[in-house]
Amino acid sequence: MTTLRSTPVAALSGTLQVPTDKSITHRALLLAAVSDRSVTVGSPLDSADTAATLGAVEACRVTVEGHLGGQVVIAGRGLRGLLPSPAIDCMNAGTLMRLLPGLLVGSRADHVILDGDDSLRGRPMARIATPLRRMGAAVFTSPGGLPPLVVSGGVPLRGMRHDLEVSSAQVKSCILLAGLFAEGETWVFEPVQSRDHTERMLIASGVPVMYADGAVGIRGPVDGLSLPDLSVPGDFSSAAFHLVAGALLGDPEVRLTGVNLNPLRTGLLDVMARMGADIQVTAGPDVAGEPCGEILVRRNDALHATEVGPEEVPSMIDELPLVGLLASLARGTTTVRGAGELRVKESDRITAVVRALRGMGVTANELPDGFTVTGGTDIPGGSMDAGHDHRFAMLGAIAGLASRDGVSVSGFEVAAVSYPGFAADLRALGAGV
Ligand code: S3P
Repeated sequence: MTTLRSTPVAALSGTLQVPTDKSITHRALLLAAVSDRSVTVGSPLDSADTAATLGAVEACRVTVEGHLGGQVVIAGRGLRGLLPSPAIDCMNAGTLMRLLPGLLVGSRADHVILDGDDSLRGRPMARIATPLRRMGAAVFTSPGGLPPLVVSGGVPLRGMRHDLEVSSAQVKSCILLAGLFAEGETWVFEPVQSRDHTERMLIASGVPVMYADGAVGIRGPVDGLSLPDLSVPGDFSSAAFHLVAGALLGDPEVRLTGVNLNPLRTGLLDVMARMGADIQVTAGPDVAGEPCGEILVRRNDALHATEVGPEEVPSMIDELPLVGLLASLARGTTTVRGAGELRVKESDRITAVVRALRGMGVTANELPDGFTVTGGTDIPGGSMDAGHDHRFAMLGAIAGLASRDGVSVSGFEVAAVSYPGFAADLRALGAGV
């Protein structure tokens, strides 16, 4: 286990090209695998999570050339052509475990077991198994609705409407993918729209996606799809760590280039603007059918508290713990509500953020569906454990830089799940980690 010691730094400055997008990489690899053509994916994220997806694609007898981080050429086997091996290891990748069944139900899968690491084994899967079974699919969870899953294909599916209680791009994507094989229309309604990378990629692949009354739908069965070659843009969720670091320490500035600016991902920008952060966004050309651009952020010592409510949560679901960190140095008490979903991420991120901040001497409290943080004049510092959650490993590192005495983060190696070069990038901005 690696412990990272993050020591206070007077200022951070420089330009970073953050790693490419994890969500888009997962989807590109999966949709390439079922394409009618050989697809070149440029700059797919090189991380533990996306390696799991590439491994799963290969385990479905798809020929892959190249490597993550460079480019991969995936010889698509067609929509119904996957030949999965009897067991597929999803490792820590929730997106893989939730999206892949949507494709396997249309394949020749026969009792394929999808399993993962201890963290993934604790994550709820009934949310995909139940709607898939309603459509007629043979998808079963282990007791308690948990992994491992058992999936079989080749069963006729019927389209129907699914009303999600909690917005989730993973669940929506899984259902829409299954809808490709179903007879008739499959609709998904979410209380608040979640990230739409899957829909954008389906449309680019020649599959009509329907929108009506706040719901999104697919008319099946679809004969095939053809994902065009694409290059993956930078990940806003990875940029978010430097964004918060820049708002606290950017002097003269931190510049982040080539970042995906899909509006369903960038809720943190609005919240930071409300808190008084000095941020400038410059739109550039679209990449892979997604809006992209550059973000510039400068230090502001006069941040103030804000309130984040349920309607904002889906657009910043992975960034909410960072709001807690920012709030530690903002005047007043910040409240995050309507974020109960955080309890079933890679860790219980409500408990984790409150525990981490308290361990650094910050005043923070849990709510059933969120948390409050009361800002002070400094973050005293201390220690925390990443708790097998990549985003907390990185949060701890940023907190240490902005703290009085530094922060030690044990289990830091888990950062590689989404951002293997994180510490090196921080050093490039002037941090002593
Ligand atoms: C993701 C969606 C989000 C997010 C996760 C990646 C995706 O999960 O937390 O890190 O790629 O679709 P939910 O859709 O379950 O909220």
